[in-house]
Amino acid sequence: MIEAKNITKRYGDKEAVKDLSFRVERGEVLGLLGPNGAGKTTMMRILTCYMPASSGSASIAGFDVFEQPLEVKKRIGYLPEIPPLYKELTVEGYLKFVCGIKDVPAKSTLKQVDAACAKAGLTDVRKRLVGNLSKGFRQRVGVAQALIHEPEVLILDEPTIGLDPRQIIEMRGLIKGLGGEHTVIISSHILQEVSATCGRVVIINEGQKVAEDTPAELARHVAGDQRMLARIKGPAGKVQKKLGAIKGVNGVELMEQDEKTVVFSINCSGVEVIADQLVSTLKANKWSLYELKPASLSLEDVFLKLTGK
Ligand SMILES: Nc1ncnc2c1ncn2[C@@H]1O[C@H](COP(=O)(O)OP(=O)(O)O)[C@@H](O)[C@H]1O
Ligand SMILES: [Mg+2]
Repeated sequence: MIEAKNITKRYGDKEAVKDLSFRVERGEVLGLLGPNGAGKTTMMRILTCYMPASSGSASIAGFDVFEQPLEVKKRIGYLPEIPPLYKELTVEGYLKFVCGIKDVPAKSTLKQVDAACAKAGLTDVRKRLVGNLSKGFRQRVGVAQALIHEPEVLILDEPTIGLDPRQIIEMRGLIKGLGGEHTVIISSHILQEVSATCGRVVIINEGQKVAEDTPAELARHVAGDQRMLARIKGPAGKVQKKLGAIKGVNGVELMEQDEKTVVFSINCSGVEVIADQLVSTLKANKWSLYELKPASLSLEDVFLKLTGK
């Protein structure tokens, strides 16, 4: 559905995107993951015909982004980094206005506004002024304007940036629900975000692709073993020794300690392998388990592993 081939974009001497290629199949949600300045926004602007690449080619639904921009624009909805909202319009008024810009036939405008409001979770606030909405709802209006002409492809640039934790969860749910019916690319600099919403991830750093895989495979590849964090009440040295002796545990590291508890990082091939023995070891020694969770990898960890720096 989306294909980018050897895209390079130079700003003056600076190569913001270097020889980047990827494909997105119909109905897939692809995450473009990379730190600030990696070239995510640049790549999205190229795919949305906002600006040309310096070299390479790209197509959407078989239409060339450079040769057939009108055909491409009909088929994509774009949420830019800063959504172009009019604060003095109501949600409904703004979306009707967008319908006009996107050549939605007048007789189907209301139907399209209804559908976009329903999908983006805006039905309750559609009579309100955009300027009076919370950041989370404004971001949804941004998603709704991208959806309004029922495009096959959605390109969402950092859709959760600036949202509070609850709004982030809601937005992730919304994005997940868009897959299947739409083909989606989202960009993010947050690893957990793409893991939570995307079927596949392309990691870019300094304009270049450094990895491409499913979130699960990436995590496995990068992490090798799984790491679990366990907060335990018990004597640090003894606990560490006993945990280390459990079958399936490949290493135990002391991470932090307070007056009552100690946090260990346990290297193992999977929590299911060690769970029973962990619990029985703790019980036999009358130590208490306060917390057990997978240690999440940060984007920094991933880059260090992938780039070997
Ligand atoms: N219009 C521009 N002129 C010059 N440099 C730019 C321009 N837009 C982006 N850049 C540079 O290109 C690189 C990639 O930027 P961008 O695509 O915005 O990255 P991201 O969205 O991943 O944060 C950055 O180093 C940025 O400073
Ligand atoms: Mg950006």
